[in-house]
Amino acid sequence: MIRNRVAPFDLPKVKPEHRLGVFSRFEDLVVARIKELTANGSKPDLERARFFRFLLDRVDPEAYGRLQEEQLSAPVFSADNRTLKYLDPIRWFESKLALAHSVGLPERQPLRLLDIGAGPGHFPVAAEFYGHVVTGADLPAGDPRRLDQGDLFGRLCSLFGIKCVPLEVLAFSPLPDLGEPYDAVTALLVKFSAHADGTLWGLDEWGFFLRDVRDNVLKPGGDLILKLNNGMITDAVWQYLATRATGADPKSKLVRFDRLSQLSLD
Ligand SMILES: C[S@@+](CC[C@H](N)C(=O)[O-])C[C@H]1O[C@@H](n2cnc3c(N)ncnc32)[C@H](O)[C@@H]1O
Repeated sequence: MIRNRVAPFDLPKVKPEHRLGVFSRFEDLVVARIKELTANGSKPDLERARFFRFLLDRVDPEAYGRLQEEQLSAPVFSADNRTLKYLDPIRWFESKLALAHSVGLPERQPLRLLDIGAGPGHFPVAAEFYGHVVTGADLPAGDPRRLDQGDLFGRLCSLFGIKCVPLEVLAFSPLPDLGEPYDAVTALLVKFSAHADGTLWGLDEWGFFLRDVRDNVLKPGGDLILKLNNGMITDAVWQYLATRATGADPKSKLVRFDRLSQLSLD
């Protein structure tokens, strides 16, 4: 049985499919999903069930419940808050597991991975399930451009056991010194590619970013994986990225630069 952690009420900015996940008890949701997936019995479902067992071992359900209560009541709650949807563990983790699969993470040797714009941390947890070690990075808590209230993203990352460091991607600015170089960098649905006045990055800004990641963040031979937002890139930028990448899917806007240091960025 799935019990409520918080009595449900109207959330105008959250899609109906997330309501169960937002209001219910974390442990009930996860246990019910494990049962469902195990009963289905297909290989991918059994792998998802294993993931949710791994999650149950990692996350303190009582602390998760306290976060739900805080986010869903005054003074943190706001009816305009679109990020409450990230309290739904099942849908977000399953979508990030699928993404981890689509970029081949289950088959890779353990990687040191930097996830830029990690947000609530679902993708880093999916990557760690497959044996990788992930550092999340995001705008600092309280930055006015962050959409979460009450540091929801930082709190979720902590609950999920993901280290998250402050970092801002800014046109023509090198990323900060992040220490040891990484085997892979991901940036998934991170709206960094616009200037403060809303104009989108051009080829020069993208070229600077790619070279900076290649020269200052990745190991030689490391990979960069981007999932871009529709509406955040011009046609010319798409052409530029797609013709230099090792893989670029125009529908999902998933762009892969395998062994970035060996690719021409001119
Ligand atoms: C839509 S969320 C995506 C979160 C996560 N990557 C995912 O796929 O679920 C976008 C995240 O990017 C972060 N972000 C936006 N602009 C950024 C910038 N210029 N530098 C770093 N992070 C940024 C936001 O704070 C937010 O956490």
